[in-house]
Amino acid sequence: MRSDDTPLIRLEDYRPSDWLIDTVDLDISLHPTKTRIRSQLALRPNPAGRPGAPLVLDGDELKLVAIRLDGLLIDEAAYSVTPQQLTLHAPPTRRFTLMIDTEVDPSANTKLMGLYLSSHVYCTQCEADGFRRISYFLDRPDVMSVYTVRLEARKLIAPVLLSNGNRVAAGELPGGERHFAIWHDPHPKPAYLFALVGGALDHVRQSYVTAEGRSVELAVYVEPGKADRAGWAMDCLVRCMRWDERVFGRNYDLDVFNIVAVSDFNMGAMENKGLNIFNDKYVLADPQTATDGDYASIEAIIAHEYFHNWTGNRITCRDWFQLCLKEGLTVFRDQEFSADERSRPVKRIADVRTLRTTQFSEDAGPLAHPVRPRAYKEINNFYTPTVYEKGAEVIRMLKLLVGEAAFRAGMDLYFERCDGTAATIEDFLGCFAETSGHDLTHFARWYEQAGTPTIVASGRYDAAARSYTLDLAQKTAPTPGQPEKQPVVLPVALGLVGGSGDLPLATTSEAYAGNGIVIFDQPSLSVTFTDVAEPPIPSLLRGFSAPVRLELDLDEAALLRLFSADSDPFNRWQAWQTVAMRALVEAGRDPGRLDALVTTGQALATGLRGFLTTQAPSDPAFAAQVLRLPALGDVAREIGRDVDPDAIQAAHRRLSTEIGHRLGPDLLDLRERLASAARYSPDAASAGRRALRNELLGLIALSAPDSGAQLAEAQFAAGDNLTDRLAALAAMTLIPGEAREALIARFAKTYAAEPLVLDKWLMAQALIPESGTLDRVRSLMQHPAFSLTNPNRVRALIGGFAANLTQFNRTDGEGYAFLAEIVIALDRTNPQVASRLLASFKSWRMLEPRRKALAETKLGMVANTPNLSRDVADIAERTLA
Ligand code: BES
Ligand code: ZN
Repeated sequence: MRSDDTPLIRLEDYRPSDWLIDTVDLDISLHPTKTRIRSQLALRPNPAGRPGAPLVLDGDELKLVAIRLDGLLIDEAAYSVTPQQLTLHAPPTRRFTLMIDTEVDPSANTKLMGLYLSSHVYCTQCEADGFRRISYFLDRPDVMSVYTVRLEARKLIAPVLLSNGNRVAAGELPGGERHFAIWHDPHPKPAYLFALVGGALDHVRQSYVTAEGRSVELAVYVEPGKADRAGWAMDCLVRCMRWDERVFGRNYDLDVFNIVAVSDFNMGAMENKGLNIFNDKYVLADPQTATDGDYASIEAIIAHEYFHNWTGNRITCRDWFQLCLKEGLTVFRDQEFSADERSRPVKRIADVRTLRTTQFSEDAGPLAHPVRPRAYKEINNFYTPTVYEKGAEVIRMLKLLVGEAAFRAGMDLYFERCDGTAATIEDFLGCFAETSGHDLTHFARWYEQAGTPTIVASGRYDAAARSYTLDLAQKTAPTPGQPEKQPVVLPVALGLVGGSGDLPLATTSEAYAGNGIVIFDQPSLSVTFTDVAEPPIPSLLRGFSAPVRLELDLDEAALLRLFSADSDPFNRWQAWQTVAMRALVEAGRDPGRLDALVTTGQALATGLRGFLTTQAPSDPAFAAQVLRLPALGDVAREIGRDVDPDAIQAAHRRLSTEIGHRLGPDLLDLRERLASAARYSPDAASAGRRALRNELLGLIALSAPDSGAQLAEAQFAAGDNLTDRLAALAAMTLIPGEAREALIARFAKTYAAEPLVLDKWLMAQALIPESGTLDRVRSLMQHPAFSLTNPNRVRALIGGFAANLTQFNRTDGEGYAFLAEIVIALDRTNPQVASRLLASFKSWRMLEPRRKALAETKLGMVANTPNLSRDVADIAERTLA
C-alpha cells in the first residue's frame, strides 16, 4: 500500500464509539497453523454514540469462520466481511450478543503482531492494534470490557497456559492429550491489553503482600533451563512494587502477576494486564551473560511495565493521540524509581544523554512532531522518543512548576477521578490545575508544539549596585507543519556561583518562584538579583530543569570553574561537556582546526588530573560520565548543517587521544586502583567502578594502542563477568590489527551458545568506525548467529550499523544503499522493525551536499518500492517531505 492512499487519522475527528462491549468471552484452541478463536461479545449502544449506527468491527488479515447474533445464524445480506472489516449493517438497537469464530495461523505470523509463535511459545502482542489480527473487534482504547478467556492446547507443547487476570479453572480434556485453563480479569480493559501465552516454560515465583494486605503470587516465566537467570527480574519487580506503594500510594490489584520472556519480540516489553510479556533481553540476567547496563535496563523496564498497571491500565488513553498520557508519565515514573535505587545525578545525566541523542535529533529533523501528535497514518510510528522521553520531561517540568506537594496531590486526584476510564491530557492536567491553583493553559503548549527551544542567556554584573542581571530569550526553530512558534513555559533552575560556593538569591522579579527557580514563559525576560557580593558565574538549567538547548557565553575558565565548584552535579558534568563540545564543533566544522584541539585537550587533561585523583574514586559512576565525551551524533546536531561525519570522527578521536596522552600513566594508575578482587555484583557502586575502569581502558586504547591491546586481552582473559569482557572487546575494536580479529573470534567461540551475548558482539563490530565495516556487516549477515527474522539480531547488527555515524554516512552512499535494501526486504515480513530501521535516515538533511544527495536518492528508492507497508511508506514519505 502506498501511504498517500492511506487516510490521515486526526485528533479533531475523534468521536466516541457508537457501540460498547461490556464483556468478552474468548475460547481459544491453540494450534501452530490453525488456531480457532471463538469470541462472544456483549454489545450495547453507546449513549454517547449515534443511535442506529451500523456496527463496524476492525480486522487485519482475518478469516471469518462463523457468526451468530444472540445465538442465531444471520442472513448473509445483514453483514459484509473482508479481512479488514466486519460490518453489521443494521444491528438491533438494544443489547445483543455476537459470536464470532475466526481462524489464524500463528506460525505464519512474521509481523509479530497479534498471535504468533516465538520459538515454540504461543504469545500475543496487541498494542496498538494487534487484537484485530486475532478477532474482529472494536479495537480502540476507549472501548473497555471485562474478559474471560478459555485456552486450550496440547499438554506436551503448552503445559503452561496464561492470560490476563486470575486463573479460575484448569483441567484435562478427554483423551488426555489436550488441556485447558480459564482466566478471568475483573478489571475492564481495552483490547490492546489482552494477552495470552502458551508453551513449555520454566519459572521462578515469589509471594508478595501489598501494603493494603493483598496476597499476590508473582512469577517470571522463561525458556526451559533459564530459570536461574530470572532472579534479578524478580528482585526488581518486588522493589518496584514497594516503591510504587511508598512514592505514589499505588497497590497491585490482582491475585497474580506474571511476566513472560520471549525471544522474538518487536519492542522491549508490553504491559498487558497481569501478564507482562517481555523481550527476553530485558528479563534474563546473570553475570556471565548480562552487562551492568543490562541489569540497569532490566530494572527500568520491569518497573516501567509494572507502573503501567496504574498509569496505562487502570487509567488508559481515550485515543492513541493521548499516548504520552501513559508512556511519558510511565517513563517519568521509571526514571524516578531508578534514580531512587541508584545515583540520582548519574541517572539524570544518563537520561539527558539519551534525550539529546534520540529526542533532540528527532525534533531537529523531518520526523519532528508534538508530544501529542495531531494526525497520523500509522500509530506504530509514533512510539517515539518525543512521546516517551520528551513526554517524561514535560511531567518533570510540571512537578517543578507546581511543587512536590501539589504534584503528589494532583497524581492522587488523577488516580481517584480517572480510575477505570480512558482519559485525555486535559483530564490529567486538570487535576494539577486543581491541586496547585495554577493556570496550566500556557504550560499545555508543551503537548502541542514540536521542536527543541533554545534559551539564549547572558549576564551582567554591576559592581556599584552589587546586582547581577540575567537576560533570557527563547526561540524555537520551525518544524514540519509548524512554521511559527510560540514561547513555552520554562522552569529555569539556577544558581549564582561565587568564590566559595552558591551565593544567596534575592530578587523582586515576579518570574522568580523561589527555590532557585525562575519561570520563563515569555519571548524574553530579565531578572535582577540584588545583594550579589561578587561577580558570579551563572549555573543555569540545574538538573536539566527544562528540555532545551542553552546558549550561554561562558569562557573556558568559567566552565572549568563550574566543573569543580558548582553545587549541582548535573551542571558540573554539563560544564565539562560544554568545553569538549565547543572544541569538537569547531574542529568538526573545519578540519583545518584539528590542531586547536591540542589546547583543549591540554586544558581538559589538567582539569581531569586533579579530578581523577581526588574525586573520581569516591564517585566513579559520575566520573565515568565525565570521561565520556559527547556522542558523535550530538556534535553533528550542534553543527547543524553541511555536516561532515568524518571530520567529527577525526576531531573526536583527536581530542580523546590528546587527553589520553597527557594523562598517560595517571590513567593506568587509577585503573589499577579501581580494580576489585570481590566477586561480581550488579549493584550501582560496583557497576560505577567498572564503568570508570572501562572508560579509562577506552582512552588508553586510543592513546596508547599497544598497552591498550594488552590490557584488553588480559581483561578478557581474567573477566568473570560480561561487563568487563565486552568492554575489553569494545576497546579492542578501536585498534585495527590481528589481535583485534583474534579477540573477535575468541569472543564468538566463548559465547557461541548465547544469542543475547552474540547480539553485543554483532553490534560491537557494526560500530567500528572504519571503511571495512560495511563488508564486515554484510558477511556477518551470513553468520549462524544472525537472522533477519529475529528483531534483536536485526537491531544489533543492522541497527548498530545505522548508528555508526561515519560508516552509515559513507561518502560513496553504500551505507544508505545497504540500509535501504534491508528495509525493503524486511518490510515483507516485519514492517514494524523495518520502519524503525528506516527512521535512521532522520538526520539526513543536515549532511553536506554530496551525502545529502545520496541519502535522498536511496530514500526515494524506498519510497517508490511497490507494495510497501503503511509503516515504511509513512516514514519514507515524512522523511523526504
Ligand atoms: N506499551 C509499550 C510497548 C509497546 C511499544 C507496544 C510500541 C506497542 C508499540 C511498553 O510499555 C513500552 O513502552 N516499552 C518500551 C520500553 C520502555 C522501558 C520505554 C519498549 O518496548 O521499547
Ligand atoms: Zn510504556
